[in-house]
Amino acid sequence: MRTENLRTMTDQPEFDHHSADCTADPIAYYESYRERCPVGRTPAHGGYVYTTRYADVARIARDDSTFSSSRAAAGGDGTAIVIPRGPGLEQFPIELDPPEATGYRELINPLLSPAAVDRLRPMIARHTARIVDDFIEQGSADFVRDLTNPLPAAVTLDWLGFPEEDWARLAGPIHDIFAAPANSERARRGAQGLAYMDQRIREIIRLWRTEPAEDAVSALAAARRADGTPFDEDELVSVIGLLIAGGVDTTTSLTGSVLVHLSRHPEQRRQLIESPDLLDTATEEFLRAFAPSQSMARTVTKDTEVGGCPVRSGERVLIPWVAANHDPAVFPQPAEVRLERDATRHLSFGIGTHRCVGAHLARAMFREMITQVLTRLPDFRVAEEGLVAYPTRGNQSGWDAIPAVFPPGTRLSQAPFAVPTAPLDALVLASDTVADGILAVTLARPDGAELPAWAPGAHVELRLPSGRIRHYSLCGDPQDRRRYRVALLREDEGRGGSLELHALAGHPDVTIRVKGPRNHFPLVEAGDYLFVAGGIGVTPILPMVRTAARSGAGLRVIYTGRSRTSMAFRDEVAALAGDRAEIVPTDELGRPDLRAALASAGPDTAVYCCGPAAMTEAVEQACADLGMADRLHLERFSAEGGDEGVFDPALNTEFEVHLARTGATLRVPVGERLIEVVREAVPGLSYDCEKGYCGACETRVLAGTPEHRDSVLTPAERAAGRSMMICVGRSASPRLVLDL
Ligand code: HEM
Ligand code: FES
Repeated sequence: MRTENLRTMTDQPEFDHHSADCTADPIAYYESYRERCPVGRTPAHGGYVYTTRYADVARIARDDSTFSSSRAAAGGDGTAIVIPRGPGLEQFPIELDPPEATGYRELINPLLSPAAVDRLRPMIARHTARIVDDFIEQGSADFVRDLTNPLPAAVTLDWLGFPEEDWARLAGPIHDIFAAPANSERARRGAQGLAYMDQRIREIIRLWRTEPAEDAVSALAAARRADGTPFDEDELVSVIGLLIAGGVDTTTSLTGSVLVHLSRHPEQRRQLIESPDLLDTATEEFLRAFAPSQSMARTVTKDTEVGGCPVRSGERVLIPWVAANHDPAVFPQPAEVRLERDATRHLSFGIGTHRCVGAHLARAMFREMITQVLTRLPDFRVAEEGLVAYPTRGNQSGWDAIPAVFPPGTRLSQAPFAVPTAPLDALVLASDTVADGILAVTLARPDGAELPAWAPGAHVELRLPSGRIRHYSLCGDPQDRRRYRVALLREDEGRGGSLELHALAGHPDVTIRVKGPRNHFPLVEAGDYLFVAGGIGVTPILPMVRTAARSGAGLRVIYTGRSRTSMAFRDEVAALAGDRAEIVPTDELGRPDLRAALASAGPDTAVYCCGPAAMTEAVEQACADLGMADRLHLERFSAEGGDEGVFDPALNTEFEVHLARTGATLRVPVGERLIEVVREAVPGLSYDCEKGYCGACETRVLAGTPEHRDSVLTPAERAAGRSMMICVGRSASPRLVLDL
């Protein structure tokens, strides 16, 4: 370690993340330390080093070899991933470092992938409906006891294969462990409940051996390691115990915090009721603001530094996710909860190899609970005087009681209520070439009925008859409720999605499944807008221009592309924005001066940008330089898996990827992402954000030169080229060899 430039670590004897001050207001507590002593050492709980900064927390969580999660590194006595250490059996993979952790992680990944969670959605909706039915006629409930605790417990235990009588029996103890003060009578009751859980897991594993079932425990019991050997019973108990204990109360906490927040902010509740497509973006902001797991910890394995201050091997380090989520260097005005904020870089699910494997399931359960509350008891009011918070919020935050009242509603079995997230079937009415290589596809329901409402920035997921899944921004008119329009690059050399859609046009007997709309890129209300679109990035921008023009807001559009004939919808943009539209084909006019356009924007102008990575990065940098980062909204890379739409193939080259452990060699065409190609060959792949933020898909590169497009790796890691985020990264060499 180089020590000459290191500052000395300041002792902060008062710092304690379990103190009454921190529990009263963790955000203010970390903020006060961030301002006067962002990194320090405290003697509390046997001594530890803390940091309050996003960059430090992310770096520590990603560097498993210097900052270990294992019990052994911390002396072996109790779980070492929290401070103070907790009791309980060792849990895999969260208490192991790679490579020991990898096999367990690969064991659970396929069971919690986005596709696997999609299959659980009807079950989640059923349980939520049943649980809400149980209290909706009464006009009052304790949201924790009656909804946010029993729902995640029922879903998780049903998914795993526990019989119904266990759901309620185990829900309480799991919550008790987190909500009760350590060593209290209630915490002891919780521990007894967990002992029962341990016994039940063993019984279910043994039962599987004689009567295999379709549930997750059976899948885990049947799984084999890469070398073909099975996992033994203790290993399975450890993994399954973690899936239950790690997943249930965290989701309880998030949902409870959001219900309290929405009761206090009726205007945001109204916004979500009127624009349900905002919920996905808002979910990430709620996760950022209300981090259920407030902090975790690591043990230092070799002398190093944290934030420029030396730390010694063996020291314990606190990594407070909540402090990282409120670091103003990453999230401007962090104390404000803004539904439209792009908060996807929050660390509430961690970052790196231990990034939460249950994130997709957590979001699905949260989404269903919030959606049913907002549709079935939209006028609920939390009785503030009855709220009970957790006694300490040092590690885990949440509410222990949320009494609420509402006008009594009807049980679902008697109400004309449809679960609002259900996918629907649509026909391809038309498919037209609207610019060089760009198809506009119009979709409608077979019976001509209305489609779900959407707002500018929304996208839909299409499942084509071949099984291909594609996501496209909606680019028609939000007021036309009978048609959706999407636009995509027609790729004769691609993997067939665009050609398949083209061929379907006008076949009345072929339907495609449409899911969504979802909105990760919502249009905020503003008096003035600057829209910047590059190439096919015009698709989400077009309905924004339409809506802004309709509302009478001030607007300016800069739309650039390689040549006039390659620019889809340029006449529509010009017709909507008139002389406020600047159409800039670069072969005729050169690149537009985006920096100058941004510099001349008014103080209240909201800036929206979508286009190739080079353009979005330049706009992001210019906004940061001009102090207007908090007014910038951009769609980075593809909004969500598999967009032929947002990637610009002009920036991509085709390459070959060889998966060393699987033995497969695959081609990655210009319009396909590396992760999409790899996913078909590796079912246990770990991924979450698919935008290059979260670190979940980090993969070792054994040969070849990766082309990095993520925001996780440091400049030194990029230059070394030994690992990459395969959700956004590509290859600069013709062949890439990955450790998969
Ligand atoms: C809002 C809900 C949730 C939050 C805030 C959350 C938070 C986290 C965090 C911060 C980590 C990283 C731990 C570390 O870096 O040491 C993590 C890991 C983990 N979570 Fe979640 N979690 C949630 C829901 C779930 C669900 C629903 C499940 C499973 C059903 C789950 C299972 C796990 C597992 C197994 C790990 C360990 C992964 C590994 O070590 O590779 N979590 N979670
Ligand atoms: S999935 Fe998040 S960085 Fe790749």
